[in-house]
Amino acid sequence: MNLYEAIFVRKTVRKFKMEPLDQTLLNGIKSFAESIPMLFEGIAVEYRWMENSDIKKYFNGSLTHKAPYYLALYSENIQGFQMNAGYLMQQVSLYLTAKGLGSCYLGMLKPKKGKTEVKPDGAKVEYVIALAFGKAENEVYRTSEKAKRLPLNDIAIFKSEVNKNIKTIIQAARLAPSSMNSQPWRLVVYDSRIHIFCKKNIFLSGVLNEAKLVDIGICLAHILVTAEELWVDVKTVHVDNISSIAFKKNDYVISVKVF
Ligand SMILES: Cc1cc2nc3c(=O)[nH]c(=O)nc-3n(C[C@H](O)[C@H](O)[C@H](O)COP(=O)(O)O)c2cc1C
Repeated sequence: MNLYEAIFVRKTVRKFKMEPLDQTLLNGIKSFAESIPMLFEGIAVEYRWMENSDIKKYFNGSLTHKAPYYLALYSENIQGFQMNAGYLMQQVSLYLTAKGLGSCYLGMLKPKKGKTEVKPDGAKVEYVIALAFGKAENEVYRTSEKAKRLPLNDIAIFKSEVNKNIKTIIQAARLAPSSMNSQPWRLVVYDSRIHIFCKKNIFLSGVLNEAKLVDIGICLAHILVTAEELWVDVKTVHVDNISSIAFKKNDYVISVKVF
């Protein structure tokens, strides 16, 4: 199974077998994570791999999903870092699915030392998101029809006739997991571009909430992994004249240009 195939069968696993993984498999997961290119060039990230005994040393918060392993992602706090974090972590999560392992995002973890850490060289890193993983106690896979997701027409508006590849890309985007399954992405789709918007937070008007940007990054992972599988050449771009328009219900985030 590859990452693309994993998109259509993955689900969140919340119960894990507390048994160790084979060292070769663990090394494979680590080298895969390290090999993923950043969504936006120049963002420095750090993967911290932990076992169950370590996680309570470094984190507070809901640790209801007891797992043998955890991966926490720290990043330099620069433009686009939350989206980049979601983009990277989702590919690790898909890799785990492809290897028959389960994973669950942990949105409620709080690092004991505080969110931001100053490293000995003065560089600052910020905790973004963590993933619990290991062998699943129950089934790791689920068919895509069983995924609880909004209907396609609620998340995407098709502005022109689109080809089969673009339709598959949008179906993959729809299946992305999100914090509390909020599915904040809204897609405006043309044959040659997909504009990605994020549903506005009704309580914090004008503020693009950080967790939602991680979700958008996860959705972008599904879009870009699918495009690669289908040999569709794409590039993420920021379209300034869209970002200058004020929309009532959504904030413009990014676009994917299709070549
Ligand atoms: C950023 C993020 C944070 C999440 N935090 C939690 C969490 O703290 N606890 C939990 O049980 N699930 C968490 N989830 C999992 C979502 O609830 C789950 O992805 C969503 O309900 C869709 O279900 P599915 O992944 O099985 O398709 C999180 C997911 C994301 C993307």
